Amino acid sequence: MEIKSKKVLITGGSSGIGKALAKMLVEEGARVIITGRDQRKLERAATEIGAIAVHADVSTDEGVDKTYAAVESELNGLDLLVNNAGIGLRKPVDELEREDFQKVFDVNVFGAARMAAKAAVIFKNQKHGNIVNIGSTAGLKGYPTGSIYTASKFALRAMSQCWQAELRPYNVRVFQVNPSEVTTAFGQDSRRERPEEPNKLTSVEIAHSIISALKMDDRGFIPELSVWATNPFE
Ligand SMILES: NC(=O)c1ccc[n+]([C@@H]2O[C@H](COP(=O)([O-])OP(=O)(O)OC[C@H]3O[C@@H](n4cnc5c(N)ncnc54)[C@H](OP(=O)(O)O)[C@@H]3O)[C@@H](O)[C@H]2O)c1
Repeated sequence: MEIKSKKVLITGGSSGIGKALAKMLVEEGARVIITGRDQRKLERAATEIGAIAVHADVSTDEGVDKTYAAVESELNGLDLLVNNAGIGLRKPVDELEREDFQKVFDVNVFGAARMAAKAAVIFKNQKHGNIVNIGSTAGLKGYPTGSIYTASKFALRAMSQCWQAELRPYNVRVFQVNPSEVTTAFGQDSRRERPEEPNKLTSVEIAHSIISALKMDDRGFIPELSVWATNPFE
């Protein structure tokens, strides 16, 4: 697809991967809504990159409804949904609590599903559209203390496969993107961006990968894309 003039919604676009992707899409001529929970941070990011800020929490029905009201009033349509908003939580198996799964799944799984449900109505009607789900390499393989987060990303990956099967007949492309470690505010209690490290991935590499995949002619799509740092161990 051509990026210019496309109508884009990115959940969680106020920092990290979502913000880098929003910036690149705006630079290529797209009209982009970004969402987030921290209103001041969101508005600062939107002003900086030329996006439209919608203060909304993906984990609530009110947040999803508010976001799609803005899609209608600000963009008057939609070509691309990026389910990027995500949170993490590490806990050993002997400390797992139902509430922890609920908190993470409300954002990473149920939030993404509710966002996609509304996009699917628009996309099936117009017989075209794109959904990018930001998963993780944690959605490919588990690791110690990863039960909650990896389960949420495995679930998101499963939904991507289902949506691919359901929506291809409507010319809708669904991309599952799995970044490995990226130096962002992710997992930081302070919510501060981590400084870049020479051998680790930054949000820019992930944004590039997504835009490259999107630019393929609409007759084709890449179902799943994993992005690794070449040598993060130094
Ligand atoms: N960084 C990594 O190493 C890494 C690796 C693999 C996958 N990922 C995935 O990449 C995605 C983006 O993460 P990131 O690394 O860019 O981290 P980040 O800088 O923490 O960005 C997360 C974004 O999501 C927003 N957000 C969180 N919960 C939300 C909610 N309930 N409603 C609306 N917005 C919400 C945040 O806004 P607020 O600050 O206002 O909450 C922020 O804009 C996540 O899905 C994450 O799982 C990250």
